[in-house]
Amino acid sequence: MSAPILVTGGTGTLGRLVTPLLREAGHPVRVLSRRGGRSGPGVEHVTADLLSGEGIEAAVSGTEVVLHLAGGPKGDDQATRNLVRAAQRAGVRQLVHISVIGADRVPLAWLRAKLDAERAIAESGLPWTTLRAAQFHDLVLTVAEKMTKLPVVPVPGGLRFQPVDARDVAARLVDLALGEPAGLVPDLAGPRVYGMDELIRSYLRAAGKRRLLVPVRLPGSAGRAYRNGDNLTLDGASTGTRTWEAFLAEGLPRR
Ligand SMILES: NC(=O)c1ccc[n+]([C@@H]2O[C@H](COP(=O)([O-])OP(=O)(O)OC[C@H]3O[C@@H](n4cnc5c(N)ncnc54)[C@H](OP(=O)(O)O)[C@@H]3O)[C@@H](O)[C@H]2O)c1
Repeated sequence: MSAPILVTGGTGTLGRLVTPLLREAGHPVRVLSRRGGRSGPGVEHVTADLLSGEGIEAAVSGTEVVLHLAGGPKGDDQATRNLVRAAQRAGVRQLVHISVIGADRVPLAWLRAKLDAERAIAESGLPWTTLRAAQFHDLVLTVAEKMTKLPVVPVPGGLRFQPVDARDVAARLVDLALGEPAGLVPDLAGPRVYGMDELIRSYLRAAGKRRLLVPVRLPGSAGRAYRNGDNLTLDGASTGTRTWEAFLAEGLPRR
C-alpha cells in the first residue's frame, strides 16, 4: 500500500469533499484536525494542533504528499510555518496549499496571514503547489443567513464576489495533489461575478423570505480594495462549474 496522503483540515467543509476523491483515486488518507474523527477503511484520523505544534510530527511522519487545508480566522501563518517545519523533517515531496484570491491585494489581517502562509511554503525548499480560490458557496450561504436575521439588511455597496462551489475546489486540489508540484497555479473562481446585493436577493428568494436591503458604504482601505475588485480574478482564472443559483436550487440545509 502506498504512503498515506495527509489532509490537514480534512474534517472541514473542503476537507470532507477532498478525502473521498482521494479514496476513489486509490490513495490511503490520513486526516489531521484538532478534534479528530472516526477512522474507517483507508482513512485514518489523527489529532494535532497546527498552532501549538502538538502532534504534528507524528501526523506528518511517513507521508509524501500533504494537502494543507486547515485554516481558521487567525494564525494560519503560524500554523503553516509549524506544518512546513515538520514536512521538511519528514522529507515530504509535495505540499499542496489552499489560499484565497486577493490574499496579496486586500488589506485584511486574515488575508495577510494567508499570504504569509503562502510565502512560508514557497520559501520552504519543499516542492509545492498553491491554489487561490474564491469564497465557497457554503460560506456565502452562512453569511447570507446571518445578515438576513433582521428585517432590514445593510448591504455594502460595490462589493462583488465570484463564489465557487467547494466540490469544484476539491476536485481541482486532488488533481494538483496527484500531479507534479506546480507553484502558484491559476486562481479558481466561480462561473459568475455577483454584487453582494444579488447574492442576498437570490438567497432570500430561495429561502422564501422578504427583507429590505439598505446600501451602506464599507469604510477604510479594505472597503476601497473590495470596491476596486481586488478580491476578484477577472482574467486568467479557471472557473468552477456550478453557479450560486445552482447551489441554492439543491435546497437549503435546515439549521
Ligand atoms: N471557506 C471559503 O470560502 C474559503 C475560500 C478560499 C479558501 N479557503 C481556505 O480553505 C481552507 C478550508 O476552508 P473550510 O471552509 O473548509 O474551513 P472549515 O470548514 O472551517 O474547516 C477548517 C478545518 O481546519 C481544522 N483546523 C482548524 N484549526 C486547526 C488547527 N489549529 N490545527 C489543526 N486543524 C485545524 C478544523 O478542524 P478542528 O476544528 O477539529 O481542528 C477543520 O477540519 C482554509 O484554509 C480556508 O482559508 C476557504
